Amino acid sequence: MAGSIVVLTGAGISKESGIDTFRDADGVWSRVRIEDVATPSAFVRDPVKVQGFYNARRRGLLDPKIAPNAAHAALARLEAEWPGPVAIVTQNVDDLHERAGSKNLLHIHGELLKSRCFACGDVREARVDLGAESVCAKCGNDGTLRPHVVWFTEMPFFMDEAIAAVRACAIFASIGTSGAVYPAAGLVEHARAAGARTVEINLEPSEVASAFAEKRYGPAGVLVPAFVAELLGR
Ligand code: OAD
Ligand code: ZN
Repeated sequence: MAGSIVVLTGAGISKESGIDTFRDADGVWSRVRIEDVATPSAFVRDPVKVQGFYNARRRGLLDPKIAPNAAHAALARLEAEWPGPVAIVTQNVDDLHERAGSKNLLHIHGELLKSRCFACGDVREARVDLGAESVCAKCGNDGTLRPHVVWFTEMPFFMDEAIAAVRACAIFASIGTSGAVYPAAGLVEHARAAGARTVEINLEPSEVASAFAEKRYGPAGVLVPAFVAELLGR
């Protein structure tokens, strides 16, 4: 039987779809500060600013011009055609992997198109702006909905499942991530411990590039379809 494949993805895989990365020169964190929009204390201090930041990103994601690119499509093809299990662990809060057809997907940093109620914990689809006037459909409170994303200092989701999948995999590929944010950046160490083949695909060497046995540098929209074609032997 074919071994399992785990693919870690980051903002770089969605760049060619028109979504900005975080740490590149034109990235999100060049325009706003993490501590102003992406921490629980920022939300307490200035909820209007934090909701405004995510409302703008949500509207951007829902723009009809935004669509999955060849890299997302190749990973969906890999999952459909590889004879063993394929899992994607994504740091991205966009839904482009789903739109491309990927099914076995862990959103460890949450999902922009969902809200979470901090009164009752309800998580559900939210494709509209959130704010003080938003009412929770479950508990009826107003002003209790926040974006279902992970902020700095918060625990990522599904890390136990992600680590278990990486510990059992034969091939671990990291695509479009700078390797600056843990625990995601540490997954390659679990892959090494498991004796997996490790492959980094990125525009440039990431901060954890030295942990990978194989490295390929260039745009994901070109390199990922080529990598998948290689794996599938055609
Ligand atoms: P970063 O912005 O840190 O890194 C994106 C990486 O993608 C960089 O190394 C780029 O060189 C690379 N890249 C850019 N365009 C590319 C392309 N067309 N093809 C391939 N690679 C390309 O984004 P992440 O590593 O995803 O978390 O950031 C990790 C986390 O930090 C995010 O999930 C977010 C952010 O703060 C939270 O907000 C909690
Ligand atoms: Zn509620």
